[in-house]
Amino acid sequence: MGMRNTKTHYGKLSIALHWIMALLIIGIIAVGFYMGTMEDGDPKWQLYGYHKATGVIILVLALFRWYWVLSNEKLSAPEGFTKKDIGLAHASKWSLMLMMLVMPVSGMVMSIAAGRAINVFGLFKVPALAEANRPIAGFFHDVHEISAWIIAILVGLHILFALKHHLLNKDETLLRILGRN
Ligand code: HEM
Ligand code: HEM
Repeated sequence: MGMRNTKTHYGKLSIALHWIMALLIIGIIAVGFYMGTMEDGDPKWQLYGYHKATGVIILVLALFRWYWVLSNEKLSAPEGFTKKDIGLAHASKWSLMLMMLVMPVSGMVMSIAAGRAINVFGLFKVPALAEANRPIAGFFHDVHEISAWIIAILVGLHILFALKHHLLNKDETLLRILGRN
């Protein structure tokens, strides 16, 4: 298996990006919803800090992934895929690609507009507005919250369909992204 995709095989880097980002994104969604259930106080604000820093790292990975997906060969549909399967796979891929930008960008704009700098694990800081802009922060807070539900549902469907193809259709869909085909 090479670094780049071919018509039938995902390359090493596509596979690594898929699974590293899958773990990070499922983790950050869980942490995001969990934070909301915590009482105000230091443990909660510490978790907010990790959530934000991880989100910025995800944005950097997502930008690189856009470049990598667009500059690599597109795999042809696995054997046995109907027109409907192809349409669903396409919709799922591009809606997830879009949401992996919308989530971190809306989170960052919310923080920046609220006047809070983002400390990315001490590596670098994303500066904030000197004077908070409440309406903008509030708007992007709502975008972030609504999009959180959308990405959570999309990821859930994406996993269900991957399992459906593997267990019921017994095709190569899941094996391809595992590099086992
Ligand atoms: C892939 C990236 C991200 C995902 C999937 C994500 C997901 C989530 C989720 C699921 C929630 C809970 C929403 C709810 O309570 O309904 C949340 C809340 C939050 N997120 Fe993110 N997030 C991401 C990136 C970021 C970034 C980069 C920041 C800021 C720099 C951020 C700041 C926040 C804040 C401040 C809240 C709490 C909002 C509140 O107090 O109501 N998030 N996020
Ligand atoms: C346990 C979790 C997951 C499983 C089992 C899974 C499964 C799969 C499978 C089977 C494919 C291949 C589809 C094809 O060949 O057309 C795929 C592709 C893809 N998945 Fe996932 N996935 C998971 C998590 C995620 C998450 C959390 C995201 C992002 C939010 C994501 C985003 C994508 C994208 C964008 C593609 C297209 C890949 C490319 O063209 O490079 N996946 N996934």
